Amino acid sequence: MDKLFVDLGKNSYNILFSDSFSGLAEALTEINAPKKLLIVTDSNVNELYADEVNNILHKKGYDSAVYAFNAGEENKKMDTILGICEACIKYGLDRKSMIIALGGGVVGDMAGFAAAIFMRGIDFVQIPTTLLSQSDSSVGGKTGIDFLESKNILGAFHQPKLVYINVGTLKTLPQEQFVSGMGEVIKHGIICDREFFNYLEENHSEIKSLDSRNLIKMDKVNCSIKAKVVEQDEKENGLRAVLNFGHTIGHAVESAYDFKMTHGECVGIGMIAASYIAYKRDMISLNDLERIENVLTLYGFRTRVKLPKEEKILEFMNKDKKKIAGKLKFVLPTEIGAVMQTTDVKPSEISGALKYISE
Ligand SMILES: NC(=O)c1ccc[n+]([C@@H]2O[C@H](COP(=O)([O-])OP(=O)(O)OC[C@H]3O[C@@H](n4cnc5c(N)ncnc54)[C@H](O)[C@@H]3O)[C@@H](O)[C@H]2O)c1
Repeated sequence: MDKLFVDLGKNSYNILFSDSFSGLAEALTEINAPKKLLIVTDSNVNELYADEVNNILHKKGYDSAVYAFNAGEENKKMDTILGICEACIKYGLDRKSMIIALGGGVVGDMAGFAAAIFMRGIDFVQIPTTLLSQSDSSVGGKTGIDFLESKNILGAFHQPKLVYINVGTLKTLPQEQFVSGMGEVIKHGIICDREFFNYLEENHSEIKSLDSRNLIKMDKVNCSIKAKVVEQDEKENGLRAVLNFGHTIGHAVESAYDFKMTHGECVGIGMIAASYIAYKRDMISLNDLERIENVLTLYGFRTRVKLPKEEKILEFMNKDKKKIAGKLKFVLPTEIGAVMQTTDVKPSEISGALKYISE
């Protein structure tokens, strides 16, 4: 099985890549998983994969049970965390027990957060089932929930003991969720891996047809990029911020659309806006800007959107919790495969970029 080691000292773990769940029980045995396991999932993934995973674990002698909450970002809140904790208590989990997060980023963030606080922290394993979670959110140990209109405002760093990726689960993923995940995948190529970006351009048909071999390769490169950034900056003090490429304007677009456009698609628009600013500064060529837009189009992204008045977008941007000393932080490409961070983007440059991405 393909494997990637995330080197975080005593918090290190492996990411395993497969096209089925057949190696899961053995992988858990290898990390000395306790007998008592609670599989935390959402209502959609519960219908699709919870029985299969639970049966595999039972057959191997694990005492596992399933707890499912209602799917959706709107349920990424404290009430759901309390529901998971209640299930942990009812099911008799103790300090040595383990939570298995089976689902997308919402499940991973919440099951991870519940694991971080239950009995002051128990172990957990990630089994991500969306492209976004397989290529991004399951690696890095950021867990948490939304609170009072703010996304991910409460949370904890809590690294998993193992990430088990079964790319076969992407076959049931709704198309718009696949496109959304590709936003983060393409982002990884632009921020630090030109060769990977070329690969995404050249193999778009195979990737879109969900060919397992290509999906495993793609997820593996992605996880290794995310892992490298996280290894150098586990608690997000600096370098990890490059992962926010496309997010400054992307988040504002997401708010303007009242979260009805997927996160990845908004990041795609935000990446075009940031790349346009870089192009106008002569940091990247017109050809690079066109390639960035073109690869997004190949994977089904919109590249232009209807935006509300500029003041409204600026209002959303100014709410960004990632501001530094009151200044908006931008990540701009210096070429395909490298980026820089800056807080000196002028209002006129932002205005130009907003016009560029407007329909
Ligand atoms: N922790 C991090 O570092 C990090 C990074 C990026 C994003 N996130 C978080 O991730 C979340 C978004 O994750 P997401 O995009 O995976 O959303 P999600 O978990 O809501 O999943 C999207 C939808 O797909 C369904 N689903 C999941 N797997 C499926 C499958 N295999 N087949 C069919 N349907 C399936 C889910 O039930 C849900 O309806 C956000 O809350 C975001 O804040 C966290």
